[in-house]
Amino acid sequence: MSSAPEGKLEGKVALVTGASSGIGEATARMLAAEGAAVAIAARRADRLRALGDELTAAGARVHVIALDVTDEEAVRSAVASTVETLGGLDILVNNAGLMLLGPVEDADTTDWSRMIGTNLTGVLHLTHAALPHLLRGQGTVVQISSVAGRVAVRGAAVYNATKFAVNAFSESLRQEVTERGVRVVVVEPGTVETELREHITHAPSKAAIEERVAKIRQLRSTDIAEAVRYAVTAPPHVMVGEIFIRPTDQA
Ligand SMILES: NC(=O)c1ccc[n+]([C@@H]2O[C@H](COP(=O)([O-])OP(=O)(O)OC[C@H]3O[C@@H](n4cnc5c(N)ncnc54)[C@H](OP(=O)(O)O)[C@@H]3O)[C@@H](O)[C@H]2O)c1
Repeated sequence: MSSAPEGKLEGKVALVTGASSGIGEATARMLAAEGAAVAIAARRADRLRALGDELTAAGARVHVIALDVTDEEAVRSAVASTVETLGGLDILVNNAGLMLLGPVEDADTTDWSRMIGTNLTGVLHLTHAALPHLLRGQGTVVQISSVAGRVAVRGAAVYNATKFAVNAFSESLRQEVTERGVRVVVVEPGTVETELREHITHAPSKAAIEERVAKIRQLRSTDIAEAVRYAVTAPPHVMVGEIFIRPTDQA
């Protein structure tokens, strides 16, 4: 009797932030299906537990972490508990994010602080905490950035600013660590059908984006997980630096 084919990530440990929905959830499923042990982190622990139970039942080793990525101490504990529970850290997927669109004029600046804390400072602290482990095992950091990290548009100023910053940080980090075997991958999706837009507080911006996306075939979270799979399962000498992925219908 032939046994099932081995996943390409057997023996690897991954930590995915924002794994309670959307792209992060799909990425955690993909990594587990490839044989990785996965630490899944986000604030909604109930959702994580349900996902964790499902992945465990399918044979994966899973560590569930209730985490707010804006809390630096909690971020450091999350990395430490991943290493302790799952035996190391080879792949960090910085995915947790918020897209609180709206004009600069009259903006609710608490939206800005939340986006900067989640999309940028959270990514910096997670990467910093994970780096010693990634350097030890020649691991990979995957940043779920955005088309918004390459192209600025009216009504997205601070979301654009956070994602441009992630891209700049990632290119500088790449130059610092690539010769020591650590790969830094930036994934830049266009519109993906997830809960991301539900959190927009500026009603006209929310209505405008809902109207725009209703006319197109959006990407699915699994499309982005496939892009991550391509990068993290590439041979160690191959550094897939950037994946820009848009819906065909998005001009
Ligand atoms: N959807 C798109 O069109 C699109 C396009 C380009 C890029 N992206 C990027 O893709 C990433 C994932 O978004 P998504 O589209 O999958 O949306 P989503 O379904 O809303 O997922 C966002 C995830 O981030 C988590 N999160 C938010 N704030 C957090 C915090 N303070 N601490 C920990 N986790 C936090 C959420 O979990 P909890 O609420 O449970 O904490 C959730 O799991 C984001 O970085 C986003 O910018 C999305």
